[in-house]
Amino acid sequence: MAQTQSDGTWCIFDTITPSSSLIMQFGKGTICSGEYLEPPGPPQFTQGDTMVEGKTKIAVIGAGNVGATCAFVLAQKKLGDIVLLDIFEGFAKGKALDMSQGGQILNYDGSITGTSDYADIAGAEVVVVTSGFPRQPGMSREDLIGKNADIVSQVGAGIREHAPDSVIVMVTNPLDLMTYHMQKVTGFPPHRVVGQAGILDSARMTHFVAQEIGCSNEDVQAMVLGGHGDTMVPLPRYTTVGGIPITQLLDSDTIDAISKRTAGGGGEIVKLLERGSAFYAPGSAAAIMAESVVKDRKRLLPCSAYLSGQYGLDDIYIGVPVTLGKNGVENIIELNLEDSELESLQGSANFYKGQLTELLGY
Ligand SMILES: NC(=O)c1ccc[n+]([C@@H]2O[C@H](COP(=O)([O-])OP(=O)(O)OC[C@H]3O[C@@H](n4cnc5c(N)ncnc54)[C@H](O)[C@@H]3O)[C@@H](O)[C@H]2O)c1
Repeated sequence: MAQTQSDGTWCIFDTITPSSSLIMQFGKGTICSGEYLEPPGPPQFTQGDTMVEGKTKIAVIGAGNVGATCAFVLAQKKLGDIVLLDIFEGFAKGKALDMSQGGQILNYDGSITGTSDYADIAGAEVVVVTSGFPRQPGMSREDLIGKNADIVSQVGAGIREHAPDSVIVMVTNPLDLMTYHMQKVTGFPPHRVVGQAGILDSARMTHFVAQEIGCSNEDVQAMVLGGHGDTMVPLPRYTTVGGIPITQLLDSDTIDAISKRTAGGGGEIVKLLERGSAFYAPGSAAAIMAESVVKDRKRLLPCSAYLSGQYGLDDIYIGVPVTLGKNGVENIIELNLEDSELESLQGSANFYKGQLTELLGY
């Protein structure tokens, strides 16, 4: 889409799935909808297109695969200054410097800094937490709980002290349990702690549907609820291609196969990589959530959110559709689920409730 700016320059917005503007290009005139837009002079940036001092700050904890990918996407989205924090200072500093140097190539400028000092995240509006061990082949996400709960406790204390007004986007696995744990550690209101899972799981389903139908990813909208694990709940009834439910486009065996592959989507990648887990799509998904918060976009996205009665569930973090804005989770959407769908969602939540008690003592 081409738009003329208030200063007479113009720009083209390119969209990616999920439908958000990722790349903003400025340049000479182009034909758009049959109309030629002639720029008055050299490309100029308007406010909001560059990162300048004093702007929005986003912190990413964990400079590993997911954290670095998230920071890199955030940089290209020009949302604000980025602080990358890792327990290994040099690792965070090195990645931040590398990304900063990429700014000239990819047309972003502003501050991307690496640190191991929580004082540097002060003032962050959003803190994306990716610190923690990833899965190795043969492991379930729940196998990570022992190691990662301690890391989340440590990180939560740092956030509570230095970014007490932030919205936390959790990524560390096992996701729904670590999101719950982070809320308890920080004592933040539950709406300011939210987990990334559903955007990724839905994107995986989207991709498999698009492959099966032979259409663009962009035209598919999938909905996956429940926990970020084997109990996740893909919802074919709420998965559409150009507005058409896939139940009208694919037979039930194909849909079942897609749902199954979606639920095992992370494991498929872990097996292929042989070391570590997926990070391009997960890091991008976390960046989309951070964007929705700092820009108060109120995107409607499936996220791990704290339930207090919705879907018949209480005191649990689980994947449901929410709107995400500057206050974090601003609204939880209650879908009109069929009995079997609701049972699956409740079954998933009850599995995690058991794990919270058994493994974390809640
Ligand atoms: N929610 C999701 O959809 C999703 C998807 C993929 C991965 N994950 C999870 O995200 C986490 C990170 O995965 P990854 O592939 O980036 O792993 P990684 O090993 O590449 O990176 C983890 C980083 O965390 C850092 N770290 C460890 N302890 C820390 C601490 N106390 N403070 C600060 N930093 C610390 C490590 O030094 C490392 O750089 C894992 O738990 C993984 O399972 C979640």
